[in-house]
Amino acid sequence: MRVLVIGGGGREHALCLALARDPSVTEIVAAPGNPGIAAVARTVPLTTPLEVAREVGPDLVVVGPEAPLVAGAADELRAAGFAVFGPSAAAAALEGSKAFAKDVMAEAGVPTAGHWVATTPDELAAALDAAGPPFVVKHDELAAGKGVVVTSDRDEALAHGAGRRVVVEEYLDGPEVSLFCLTDGATVVPLLPAQDFKRAGDGDTGPNTGGMGAYCPLPWLPPDVVDEVVKTVAVPTVEHMAARGTPFAGLLYVGLALTSEGPKVVEFNCRFGDPETQVVLALLDSPLGELLHAVATGRLADVGPLRWRDGAAVVVVVASEGYPAAPVVGDAIEGVEDAASVPGVAVLHAGTATDADGRLVTAGGRVLGVTATGSDIAAARASAYEAVRRLRIRGGHHRTDIAAAVPQ
Ligand code: AMP
Ligand code: GLY
Repeated sequence: MRVLVIGGGGREHALCLALARDPSVTEIVAAPGNPGIAAVARTVPLTTPLEVAREVGPDLVVVGPEAPLVAGAADELRAAGFAVFGPSAAAAALEGSKAFAKDVMAEAGVPTAGHWVATTPDELAAALDAAGPPFVVKHDELAAGKGVVVTSDRDEALAHGAGRRVVVEEYLDGPEVSLFCLTDGATVVPLLPAQDFKRAGDGDTGPNTGGMGAYCPLPWLPPDVVDEVVKTVAVPTVEHMAARGTPFAGLLYVGLALTSEGPKVVEFNCRFGDPETQVVLALLDSPLGELLHAVATGRLADVGPLRWRDGAAVVVVVASEGYPAAPVVGDAIEGVEDAASVPGVAVLHAGTATDADGRLVTAGGRVLGVTATGSDIAAARASAYEAVRRLRIRGGHHRTDIAAAVPQ
């Protein structure tokens, strides 16, 4: 089958690598892709998802990022007759609007943080008083991981919400887990749980980012938690979305905090997470193309149990100078081949481009996702950091503590 992947980040590079391992996938086209993706796929400019699909004629379109999904790309593609992996705009609102997601969770009885919606300074002040510190204030729209502040500073919380509609949440304490659930709108199949590191700095300091690293699986997670989350979160959400006439089909990303009262939802996303996808798909042994095609065509119930590789995977994100506030682009990236020669390592491209002289340069905030597999997390981590040491990007930075203190 010919697969068209929409997007050009680290997640899409990971998707393309996993698709390339599926013998039923005969051709991969990525729009726009990136220089790393160009090694496994044919890359074409992204005019619009529909225009590209009409040119390419794919058997399956995989829409990677949230922005086109929230804007209705999957609806347009489906209306034109394509098999699409990715939810409709109405279903993608689970990510596109925090307030909508909260309503759905309340209606479906899904455990999550208590919340208040505020649109005026007075409402915001009252919500902060009711919630108490630490304050969690979220912009009610897509914000690439940067619309959330968690702070004990009331003035900072007020400033973050000034002049816009926000959701104020009760603070959830406990380790975070990302659980990706494939669903065709009826059947739900969880992937392996992962954990990502959202803050820019070591020790979970600094601003929130899209994610600075991740690992998979989670040796410390009690084995029944995945089933519990499928039962208490994913299935009721999918059933409720179908009942309200906006079925969710694609990947439901369940972001959880494991609180003393049990798992509670921190956020829903409507697509594969980045960088967790890099580690989850590194361990997937089942053919990804067949799986995503089954989701796209409502046949997920026919797919047998997923197969996973033994061992673990770790990804360390190398970011450009200034990320996340103001990423500097155009800096030379050196050492990629040397880094990729470390056994078990794949250097996944995110914000990269080729300049006029053919040199690889930075083109976004998160530049590379150095992904390693190994017999366990310590081994995968050692390989990932060995590869990171071989990279040279002026002003580049990464966290040094990804998967460093994972309880076994
Ligand atoms: P979100 O974009 O909603 O995932 O929020 C980004 C990050 O902010 C999450 O991964 C958490 O680390 C943190 N966060 C969000 N909501 C809460 C909450 N209710 N309590 C504690 N931390 C939160
Ligand atoms: N890693 C977080 C996200 O993809 O939203």
